[in-house]
This record gives sequence, structure tokens and C-alpha cells, in this order.
Amino acid sequence: MKQQCFLHKNFCKNQSPRIFMYFCAMQTNDIQKAAHIIAGGGLVAFPTETVYGLGANALNPEAVAKIFAAKERPSFDPLIVHIDSFDWFAKLTTNVPAEISPFLEQFMPGPLTVVLPKSDIVPDIVTSGLNTVGIRMPANDIARKLIQLSGCPIAAPSANKFGQLSPSTAAHVRKQLPNIDYILDGGSTSVGIESTIITFNNNECTLLRPGIITPEEIEKHLPLGYTLTTKKSKSIIAPGLLQSHYSPKKPLFIFDTLPSSFPPKSGLILHAEQAIPAIERSIFTSLNGNLLEVAAHLFSALHTMEDTPNIERIYIQSVAPQGLGIAIMDRMKKAAFQYQTENSQYI
Ligand code: TXA
Ligand code: MG
Repeated sequence: MKQQCFLHKNFCKNQSPRIFMYFCAMQTNDIQKAAHIIAGGGLVAFPTETVYGLGANALNPEAVAKIFAAKERPSFDPLIVHIDSFDWFAKLTTNVPAEISPFLEQFMPGPLTVVLPKSDIVPDIVTSGLNTVGIRMPANDIARKLIQLSGCPIAAPSANKFGQLSPSTAAHVRKQLPNIDYILDGGSTSVGIESTIITFNNNECTLLRPGIITPEEIEKHLPLGYTLTTKKSKSIIAPGLLQSHYSPKKPLFIFDTLPSSFPPKSGLILHAEQAIPAIERSIFTSLNGNLLEVAAHLFSALHTMEDTPNIERIYIQSVAPQGLGIAIMDRMKKAAFQYQTENSQYI
């Protein structure tokens, strides 16, 4: 439970050792309670290092069906299975080429999902009938402890209603999914955007969804003779790649150059300190354009604007689409897609 206390270091720092120990024990009890609910076929929202997930026992089709119902998610959109060890990896997949093992060990645990041929123990409802399964080994200690205590792999999409903003805090989950069995609160997630998703086919690695693990990092660690492509399949193999997704409930517009004025009741999201025109509300995701900070605070900033009653529309600054900027722009464009006009530069 070291990392968990670390997450709450400001709380812990100010407490006596006795209260500190009580705090850690209380958190362990919370995880045990959550694990009990998962093992019993219930739904638990839990933190990962990327965003909060809405989890159920991946080997129990009825439990997994509750995820689709709670999220109002179409049944054609497959779920990622979360594991805490390579033992589960071997049980859930089949025909994995041996030469990709060092690559997997490089990035797992971590914010990477790998889509590979599934074994027979993975229920069809998890993969929406596909013969592949997305596997992720989160690095977050609470998530790992939860999987371990549940005794099963955990199927979990992001813990939001389908198409709405992803959650980076427990409060974001509560806003969209108030009626699920349990929400395990682990504070704000550190990465802030969903995992990078890749798949392997012969000697080709395909990027299905950009994330904090960039194409450059992936290429650096691919086995000899493998190439990386971002070619999209004609069929929808990852609905996260749909043009509209992760949307706030208020119109969102992306700009490159800061406009000199905004309509009344506008909210402004910027990624570096600068002089701004008069505006109802502004949020800085970073003071100096640090992309790790931008990613970590992106969904939080959008949630805050969504929740501010006197804001009717949101303007957000773009970032350069390089490195981690690719994933950040991917989320921004999808969030803004339904609100773009025909003349928009971002369609
Ligand atoms: O960081 C994350 O990945 C978070 C945390 C909770 O782990 N999860 C997440 O799940 O973002 P979700 O369901 O919101 O996005 C997963 C994406 C979906 O777009 C889904 O279509 C795709 O992964 N996916 C899952 N299994 C797949 C498969 N077998 N083939 C292709 N795409 C798959
Ligand atoms: Mg999602």
C-alpha cells in the first residue's frame, strides 16, 4: 500500500503515525470490500494510472453484461481485460509470438493495452465476439491489489457513460455512474488519458489508439524486423477510434491562436501561462506547455467546465501533434467533433 499512501502524501504528512497507519488499514479494507464485490459478480469503479475503470469479473458473462448496461455501451464495443501477472496473460491469450515477450515486459505493467488472439476462457461478451482480446496490466497499486484480491482478471472500460468524458477522479465517476455497487477512491489518476492500444499481425505492430506511450517509444522496443503502422482497418475494431467520443455536454471548440475576444458565458482551457482576454472562467492544464501535465489535467479541466453552471461553451487551445501531443489532440478532436462547423480546421 506504499503508493497509495504516497498518493495521499499531503494527508499523511500532517498526521500522527497512529492515524497514518489507520488510514492505510482503512484503504486496504476498502480494496478488500471492492474485491469481494467483484468476486460476487458486482461492479466496482477503481483507479488505474490512466483513468478510472468500471470493473467486473472478466470470466463471468453476467457480471460483464452489467458493465454494458451501466455504461449504456453498445455491445459491439469490446472491453479491455486487466491483469496483475503474466500468468493471467498466458491463460487469456493464445498463439502469442515468442519474440514479442521482451517488448511486453518493457511496457507491462504500464499504460499499454495489447490486442492479441484470445483463449477459450475469455467470454464472447468481453470481446464483442471478436477472436482477439485487449489485455492491460495496470501499474497503479490499488488496481493491482484489487485484481489480486478478486482472484480473477477484471474487464473494465473507462468508468463513464458511453461517449461522455473519461473520469480521472472518483467524483467524475460518481457524476455519471451514481448507482454502481462501489467506487474505490484512489485520488486523481496520474496519466489522465487512456492507455495506448496496439495489436500485432505477422511482423506488423498497429497503433489502434494513441496514448502516453508514444509511437517513437514503441518503435524503439519492437522486435527486430517488426514495423509500426497507424493504418486504420475498414471495420471498426476499436470504437475508441470513432471520430466522436469522450465528449463534454457543452459545445467545445479547438483553436491554435488565442482569439482576441470570446462570446459571453465562455470557458477557456490553456496549456501555458499567457495574457488572456476577459472571460467567465479559465483553466490552465500546465503553466509551461508540459504535455505530461496537459494530459494529466485534460479531462479534469473539461469536467470542471461541464460542471460550471454559467459556462455555455468551451474553448481549448491545441497542442503540437508530436509525441504525446498526438494522443492529446486525438482526445481533443474526438471531444470536439460533434460541435465542429463545416469550415472548421479540425474536421
Ligand atoms: O486506459 C485505459 O485503457 C482504460 C483503463 C480503465 O484501463 N480503459 C479504457 O477502456 O479506456 P475503454 O473501453 O474506454 O476503451 C478501450 C478501447 C475501446 O475503444 C475498444 O473498442 C478497444 O479498446 N478494444 C478492446 N478490445 C479490443 C479488441 N479485441 N480489438 C480491438 N479493439 C479493442
Ligand atoms: Mg472509454
